[in-house]
Amino acid sequence: MIKNKFTTQVSQDLKNENFIGFKINHKILNRLGFFVLKKAFKKKTIDQYKFKFINNQRKQIIKKTKNHLVEVKIDKLSFFKKIYKDPQLKKIVKNFYNGNVGSDFFRIVKKDINNTKPVFCHQDTGYQFGSFNRYSLFISLTKSYNLNGGMTVYPSTHKFGYLGDAGEISKKITKNFIKICPSLESGDVLIMHSSLWHESEKNYKKIDRIYLEVHIQDADEPSTNFVISGKRNDVIKIPFDKNKVFSNSRVQRIVKLKNKIKKINI
Ligand SMILES: [Fe+2]
Repeated sequence: MIKNKFTTQVSQDLKNENFIGFKINHKILNRLGFFVLKKAFKKKTIDQYKFKFINNQRKQIIKKTKNHLVEVKIDKLSFFKKIYKDPQLKKIVKNFYNGNVGSDFFRIVKKDINNTKPVFCHQDTGYQFGSFNRYSLFISLTKSYNLNGGMTVYPSTHKFGYLGDAGEISKKITKNFIKICPSLESGDVLIMHSSLWHESEKNYKKIDRIYLEVHIQDADEPSTNFVISGKRNDVIKIPFDKNKVFSNSRVQRIVKLKNKIKKINI
């Protein structure tokens, strides 16, 4: 919310750190667009996921996505799909979407000694496929705080909804808003609405900041790939390749234009 123009409730929530707890407060999550759930996963579970990730990364079986600042795709490693059966995850999601909770993707988003760059302020909605009432669960596999590039959020900005394009939100706008970088321990989960504005600092400390991100949505969304809780009704499933929907989009036109320029310069 805009500095000095908070609603009383949002002000109180921020002042009293009501967004941190051992149980999700859905009212506060709805008001602020984020919530920090403490000790949601046992150390043993977190250690397993961290070990699998680090090990596979070292063997170069998985790598950071080219041209992406922090993403490592892990969907080919069946080990990580275990997360969807984990009672600890089921417990977290049980009060979303009347208990019928699905997921369209999961991935790692990380910073480390080789990958320290900051991430500009954006909302995820413009990069996603489907309806707008969805959340990311950032399961912290390490400590995460300002100096190692932890997630920074702009409280209540999800209320503005989809901003009509994807990319960096202007600093001329964001400078007027309060931002918070909650410190997380491994095993904590940052729950974030996909429309919430967020960014992250450079990893100044050069120590690992690793999140296992699980994206959740109503199980009945056409893009649901995994049902975490409850059931999926007999709903339409996407009958086409999500990545080949457009024959002439904004992004495609930019790519074409870039290629033209490249050719001219050769
Ligand atoms: Fe994001």
